[in-house]
Amino acid sequence: MAEPSLVAAGEEPEERAIEAALRPKNLDDFVGQHRVRKQLSLVLQASRMRGRTADHVLFSGPPGLGKTTLAMIVAAEMNAPLRLSSGPAIQHAGDLAAILSSLSEGEVLFLDEIHRMSRPAEEMLYMAMEDFRVDIVVGKGAGATAIPLELPPFTLVGATTRAGLLPGPLRDRFGFTGHLEFYSVPELELVLRRSAGLLDLKVNSAGFAEIAGRSRGTPRIANRLLRRVRDWALVHGIEQIDSRAASAALDMYEVDKKGLDRLDRAVLEALITKFGGGPVGLSTLAIAVGEETETVETVAEPFLVREGLLGRTPRGRIAMAPAWTHLGYAIPSGVFAQEQLDLFDSGEEAAGAGEWAPEGQ
Ligand SMILES: Nc1ncnc2c1ncn2[C@@H]1O[C@H](COP(=O)(O)OP(=O)(O)O)[C@@H](O)[C@H]1O
Ligand SMILES: [Mg+2]
Repeated sequence: MAEPSLVAAGEEPEERAIEAALRPKNLDDFVGQHRVRKQLSLVLQASRMRGRTADHVLFSGPPGLGKTTLAMIVAAEMNAPLRLSSGPAIQHAGDLAAILSSLSEGEVLFLDEIHRMSRPAEEMLYMAMEDFRVDIVVGKGAGATAIPLELPPFTLVGATTRAGLLPGPLRDRFGFTGHLEFYSVPELELVLRRSAGLLDLKVNSAGFAEIAGRSRGTPRIANRLLRRVRDWALVHGIEQIDSRAASAALDMYEVDKKGLDRLDRAVLEALITKFGGGPVGLSTLAIAVGEETETVETVAEPFLVREGLLGRTPRGRIAMAPAWTHLGYAIPSGVFAQEQLDLFDSGEEAAGAGEWAPEGQ
């Protein structure tokens, strides 16, 4: 999935290698997400004590909050090998059968973007998750026969940015669901301190605070911003990164004080200038900023909603008052008419229904 401009810089091999190096390897090094961490730790500890393969686990939440990292931690904590694949890579049930039939006992299978798996593969997965068995269909038409194949017990770890898109039967087969939340600024400071240590960078407290505050509540972005600040400091011959250096560097990369990046601002800008603040449908909004609907919905929106900049109503998206001010527009009178505010109040639940499913649902 396409990510905002600055984030896409991480596609370079060197950047990807650094990202891998910065991944916490065990639960103790994993910052924040206390509830998920505590619950997961209990699930894993209990299975270790029973000498059993851990229950299937699902992680949901916006990109960059630690889903892949947690999947790797599950395997590490269970001392089990890890197999990586993803929904988009599994287009046919046969693709999945090939993976499942080659799993070893106790192996952890990580399926990223699990909501994008094809229907037939999904149905095969139900049976594999529940009964550790698949039916391999041989032949076509009337002569087709299903050959049952026993699978060793394994742990499926699914990750999705769209928990609401997972069919109920699939969601129900996970023994544990962890929904990841955006990180607080102090938590991001911890992530940055750890990373700076690993990268051997000198940053003072104010420098960490400045970077953390602009990281959109997202560790992946915090780490990327840290590397951009590092580059800036290197070029400017600065030894110790303070808030002024961090601030100057991030201004240059067009990451603003609230942490909004180019896509976030484009979405709000379009809402305000092209649609008078909304409400406008998500797909129309996505076209206006030249992005995929899914990117706008899963990458930009959750953070903008959390920051109170964007509202979801049954009739579409609206720019909230702070969005106008943040982008330097005067809030036109009449835009926040009572009718629109009512819409927002009643709308949040309806629009969010099935979107970010609460834990255990
Ligand atoms: N809780 C955390 N503590 C420390 N670093 C984290 C944490 N969560 C994520 N990261 C860092 O952010 C990066 C992105 O995390 P990742 O697990 O790939 O996110 P996701 O799979 O949810 O998109 C990783 O390289 C990791 O270093
Ligand atoms: Mg991931």
